[in-house]
Amino acid sequence: MPGLVPGIHVVPSTPSDVDGRDKPGHDDVERDERKTTVVKYDGVRGNSLATIACPRAPRTHLVLGWLIFSLSTEPAMSDRSTHWQTVYTTKAETEVSWYQDEPAMSLRLIRDAGAGASSRIIDIGGGASRLVDALLTAGYGALTVLDISEAALAAARARLGAAAATVDWIAADVTRWTPQASYDVWHDRAAFHFLTDANDRAAYVARLRAAVAPGGAVIIGTFALDGPEKCSGLPVVRYDAESLAATLGPDFGLQDSCTEAHRTPWGSVQQFQFCRFRAG
Ligand SMILES: C[S@@+](CC[C@H](N)C(=O)[O-])C[C@H]1O[C@@H](n2cnc3c(N)ncnc32)[C@H](O)[C@@H]1O
Repeated sequence: MPGLVPGIHVVPSTPSDVDGRDKPGHDDVERDERKTTVVKYDGVRGNSLATIACPRAPRTHLVLGWLIFSLSTEPAMSDRSTHWQTVYTTKAETEVSWYQDEPAMSLRLIRDAGAGASSRIIDIGGGASRLVDALLTAGYGALTVLDISEAALAAARARLGAAAATVDWIAADVTRWTPQASYDVWHDRAAFHFLTDANDRAAYVARLRAAVAPGGAVIIGTFALDGPEKCSGLPVVRYDAESLAATLGPDFGLQDSCTEAHRTPWGSVQQFQFCRFRAG
């Protein structure tokens, strides 16, 4: 349906009287009934249509209700990937709030997890972060970077040059990805907190369980309880160590937690919560 952006669109429609069922007095039609056609357009597979009949609902209220619903729901999968592709194709590395020259906190937590040169380390939502460069420099040799944005991964590969060939690059939505390997260290800085839908968080934790063997380390950095409510224009869930541990569940034992005041390239400060867990 050309012209519709991804989302839920509402098209008021007049009863069509194709077979007489729209006539007053028929079972499923009452006076003042409105019918509204709801078009859910996902931008990839086309659209699906459903017609709902709402007795006595003023049409404008119904339309407004659906529009509010549409605006307040989680972005569809295609929206999510489009968002991040747009970010990484329109902004330079230092024009994003999460940019760091030196990912010192992540490096420390990975070292404290006991990771060695051959430990399999995956950076979830790694984007164009310089963590992969720093890990290679520190001698870690079994690295994977996963991100929903192919453009972000391409930027990191271009920066690394020949060294990029030693890294596995996975372009995927972590909530839909099927892990093909087991990892000793799972690292995520500022990706998990975008999962504002409980089903997405459950899908993430299921992948985490599948990808990290017992004894493996899980390091997750999110905005802290006193951090910003949004990142890259998207709402986030803020955590402290307790709420993050509760979200991951009892299979992951909390080993370390600390906060960090991240300074954005334009000088504002964002409070982060970092936690390190051990998979049981
Ligand atoms: C705020 S940035 C952080 C990037 C990087 N971790 C860093 O610290 O510089 C969030 C990253 O998560 C990625 N991302 C967001 N949602 C994702 C998802 N569902 N699956 C995989 N990556 C995702 C984005 O493309 C983006 O690169």
